[in-house]
Amino acid sequence: MQNKKLSVIGLGKLGLPLALSFASKGLNVIGYDINKETVDKLHSGLSPISEPFVQKMLLNNKANITFTQTAEDIIQKSNISFIVVPTPSKKDGSFSSQYIEEAIKAFIPSLKKKKTKTYICNNQHNFSRNNGKNSQTID
Ligand SMILES: NC(=O)c1ccc[n+]([C@@H]2O[C@H](COP(=O)([O-])OP(=O)(O)OC[C@H]3O[C@@H](n4cnc5c(N)ncnc54)[C@H](O)[C@@H]3O)[C@@H](O)[C@H]2O)c1
Repeated sequence: MQNKKLSVIGLGKLGLPLALSFASKGLNVIGYDINKETVDKLHSGLSPISEPFVQKMLLNNKANITFTQTAEDIIQKSNISFIVVPTPSKKDGSFSSQYIEEAIKAFIPSLKKKKTKTYICNNQHNFSRNNGKNSQTID
């Protein structure tokens, strides 16, 4: 695992602490966010979110984490990606996968260039009772 590079797509209140936690364990991490201001701040060493320890973790783990807005970088330079974008609730109580789908679309051209197997799994309501029907494989 030490020679693998992980990527985290969506560097908000959950994604950034997740990325920094991986980096703090010595893993190589590359973070991607659609929001330019977020990525610019991170390049300046400033946390775009206010969460306990995040600013300190950012400064302490600079050697293990980089940030980009280039989708190609994520696919070419990482082996495993975590997508941590918003999943707002819909009126019927289910979650919208709109942001996840938009995020994935940005990576399709790069995915097509790389020999890769992609597993997509989201943990929606009733997922465990659904025999994993929410998971898909893209060759
Ligand atoms: N915050 C929490 O405590 C928490 C806890 C459990 C689960 N979650 C889940 O984690 C997921 C993310 O929540 P959050 O609180 O981190 O949201 P957030 O709004 O803080 O962060 C989402 C980030 O995703 C980025 N983003 C949006 N569209 C994108 C795209 N197409 N490509 C790349 N980046 C994109 C946004 O710019 C933002 O930085 C949601 O599914 C949420 O339900 C969050």
